[in-house]
Amino acid sequence: MSFDKETANELVPSLQEVTENYYKIKSLLKKTPVISWEGELKDKILGSDAEIFIKLELLQYAGSFKPRGGLTVSQVLSQDEKKNGLVTVSAGNHGISLAYIAKKIGAKATVCLPASANPFRLQKIRELGAETIICEDVHKAFEKAESLKQEKGMFFFHPFEGYGMTLGHGSLALELVEQIPSGFDQIVISVGGGGLCSGVAAGLKQHPLTVGTKIIAVEPEGADALHQSLKVDKTVRLDSRWREIQNLMLTGYYLSPYKISVVSYLRHAGYTPT
Ligand SMILES: Cc1ncc(COP(=O)(O)O)c(C=O)c1O
Repeated sequence: MSFDKETANELVPSLQEVTENYYKIKSLLKKTPVISWEGELKDKILGSDAEIFIKLELLQYAGSFKPRGGLTVSQVLSQDEKKNGLVTVSAGNHGISLAYIAKKIGAKATVCLPASANPFRLQKIRELGAETIICEDVHKAFEKAESLKQEKGMFFFHPFEGYGMTLGHGSLALELVEQIPSGFDQIVISVGGGGLCSGVAAGLKQHPLTVGTKIIAVEPEGADALHQSLKVDKTVRLDSRWREIQNLMLTGYYLSPYKISVVSYLRHAGYTPT
């Protein structure tokens, strides 16, 4: 399957598209384990009746869910795009993922990071062979990536935005359905730019076994751009007061229209922002 990188940005991936893509990238991913959280602490916080599953996506290749979307986007890159190199902005995890993918497909990757980026992640990106550019903050990192795109024709590999990212992150939903076939009442997903949440919601809210699952999207306090946007059904960009948080998760200011439209569409299918 291939998708048009420009026009597809208008669309919410259908369950069929999420499924086809899942089978396409499956062999490139690890099926990360789901564990059951049991014990006194869980009982104390959530009650002994609550059954809690945790999906260990930190065991995914490159250490996070990011390659799900990244590998999906990488499948539709042209030879020219690969030749000119890939550039991105990252607080860490997406940068590691892009460096990992670029190495696999034989492309050059450049990752622009805020100076506050986690040193362990920075080192990982470098070890995987990507070039790193340290910028004053995440705003400057976006400016730098944009200028490299313009000047050198590099492909801007967005950290969370776009149809391909949503499509690929949807694979996590399908894996969960396979791993917990009895279904689950609620799922809690952390939100930075909204890519993970839009993909998982696209998979779960269209799947017959999980259509009734309540999706709880969690945002950092003070950077609840998704919540604010859903209240008014358009993209709300928060101001830069929350730069510390934005540097950590690329959240708030950078929430993008595609994610909002996917998530607002899914809200009508029972998605619940929190
Ligand atoms: C571990 C982890 N969880 C969740 C997120 C949020 O993902 P998104 O930006 O797609 O909302 C990120 C983003 O970097 C992350 O690294």
